[in-house]
Amino acid sequence: MSETDVDLEARLAEQDSFEPPESFVEQANVSDPEIYDEFENNWPECWEAAADLLEWTDDYDQVLDDSNPPFYQWFTDGELNASANCLDRHLEERADEAAIEWVGEPVDEDNRTYTYGELHREVNEFAAALRDLGVEEDDVVTLYMPMIPELPVAMLACARIGAPHSVVFAGFSADALATRMNAADSEYLVTCDGYYRRGDPLDHFDKATTGLDGVEHAVDTVVVERLPSEDAFPNTWPEQTRGYDELVENHAGETVEPVDRDAEDMLFLMYTSGTTGQPKGVKHTTGGYLSWAAWTSQAVLDIKPDDTYFCSADIGWITGHSYIVYGPLALGTTTMMYEGTPDYPDRNRLWEIIEEYEANQLYTAPTAIRAFMKWGEEYPDSHDLSSLRLLGTVGEPINPRAWKWYYKHIGDESCPVVDTWWQTETGGMMLTTLPGVGEMKPGSAGPPLPGLSADVVDMSGSPVGAGEAGYLVVNKPWPGMLRTLYNNDDRFINEYWREYSNVDSDDSADWVYFPEDGAKLDEDGYITVLGRVDDVLNVSGHRLGTMEIESAIVGVEGVAEAAVVGGDHDIKGEAVYTYVITEDGYEETEELREAIIEGVEDAIGPIARPEAVIFTPELPKTRSGKIMRRLLENIANAEDLGDTSTLRNPEVVEDIQRKVQSD
Ligand code: WT7
Repeated sequence: MSETDVDLEARLAEQDSFEPPESFVEQANVSDPEIYDEFENNWPECWEAAADLLEWTDDYDQVLDDSNPPFYQWFTDGELNASANCLDRHLEERADEAAIEWVGEPVDEDNRTYTYGELHREVNEFAAALRDLGVEEDDVVTLYMPMIPELPVAMLACARIGAPHSVVFAGFSADALATRMNAADSEYLVTCDGYYRRGDPLDHFDKATTGLDGVEHAVDTVVVERLPSEDAFPNTWPEQTRGYDELVENHAGETVEPVDRDAEDMLFLMYTSGTTGQPKGVKHTTGGYLSWAAWTSQAVLDIKPDDTYFCSADIGWITGHSYIVYGPLALGTTTMMYEGTPDYPDRNRLWEIIEEYEANQLYTAPTAIRAFMKWGEEYPDSHDLSSLRLLGTVGEPINPRAWKWYYKHIGDESCPVVDTWWQTETGGMMLTTLPGVGEMKPGSAGPPLPGLSADVVDMSGSPVGAGEAGYLVVNKPWPGMLRTLYNNDDRFINEYWREYSNVDSDDSADWVYFPEDGAKLDEDGYITVLGRVDDVLNVSGHRLGTMEIESAIVGVEGVAEAAVVGGDHDIKGEAVYTYVITEDGYEETEELREAIIEGVEDAIGPIARPEAVIFTPELPKTRSGKIMRRLLENIANAEDLGDTSTLRNPEVVEDIQRKVQSD
């Protein structure tokens, strides 16, 4: 340990709570602790505060219609357009201010600023182009693009014409793209030729076209040409494929009247992993989602129009949707987009960007913070990060040591840190301290936001006592909540509500949302989220279904059976551990191991790449034949195995353990 580390340990280790810095509170968007009581006493009308951040073309009648739980409706009969809210209404005052600061790879060559005026223009042109291609209101348009400006342009163009988008993370595989396009019946795809990763061009179009081979219906495709000609791949475009630049040029200067959307109309779909192999199509709406993204951006991230705000997530995940695109742009601020990784060309990259653009907020993930810590504080310490006013984290629990490192070395002990718990399904933040109000406690996300009601309960649904652990539940609906799983209301009820609700009741008080996370209730009402309690892994803050990975492995020739569990990992938090039984006649070879790894990458993407493939003659099973995942997890983490007496085949455990240790 270096000396500064020792000092930090000594000074901060003992401290388990931190008051918001005075200088921050003085200027905070929200600084009055009364907000909790006010919202509670005035629920659900309190959420007019969120709706008021938007411009409505037709006023809503009712804040909440809860007559048919869990199919809640917010801001009923109100009309608005998300693209108009993110662009048009800012033009009068902010046409020449930056909307997006895009920092691209390779370094120093390609950075772009889009003012609100420029972004508005390009969104209109592309909206006109989409219409011309035949896209109609309510058609789902799939966007399969990395962190290039055309991604938010396409999102807002879709929103403008009332076509819901379904963004598929660019790191996902061809198969994953096909599954999502089929599930959404999506007949339009916007993608790109390629992009850079650590300075090298990557062929993205090849992956997209392979994916299209697996789509069951005809698709019109638009290709953004990201790579300059010297780095372009020699791809031939199939029929029904058009270039983005050409389309936009054909519609130069055109404007498209934003379509009035009902508050409850779908703004977008986002597929996320669940317990079964089939991803879930989470449906978000125009009024509720957008007001939630805007309100939380204002109250929690403290965003003001003059800020330069930096969220290092990828727009391919919900964090990027809510907190790179919709929330910040609804508030008229400058949002940054970074195409690259934090360690290319070197480990100063992120700090250089913050210094150069004088970013005011940084919203990132614990996995990144753990990597920064490991690299050492000399990188951030050698940059002027004094523009920062607030820090945030999201995606997984942050341990107090990482929290304190972030607070000290990035925030210089003068920025509040908000640890925000939420999910794809919640649309935006749920549990966190308000940075201008609440005391921060490293490791604990905090209380529910004002106007929200969350609890920690036991298996039977009774609240646990202070200091005890149980399951996290949300007791009241909120505007940003998912409305259903696309085309699958039954699964929506089964996945999120059945556990703790009286599903036969039409009284909304009998309905409780279950996010499938374990949590601990602290003495003061703060909630420490412990992690998923379903078969979902959290690898570097990304959600991966064990069943999805298992079915990919079983698809590999020579594999008879597979079990996937999460093992502890210093940086990623969790890593993918796979236990594999070979088919008769197949050897446990290095080739098979590689084929398995490749099989997973092909089915899902490199993010799901197994850390370890452990061959085993059998899997530990209960007498009823269920795989004992918990035991496999303990083996992966080299923990005490506890009671194995219910096992049908206890001898396999030792065998597997020996193999893991020798790996
Ligand atoms: C799951 C949701 C929210 C956007 C990114 C992930 C875990 C998220 C925290 C946090 C502890 C967290 C939960 C949750 N999670 N934030 N601050 N503390 N755990 O979205 O892919 O939908 O995953 O991420 O387990 O259920 P997602």
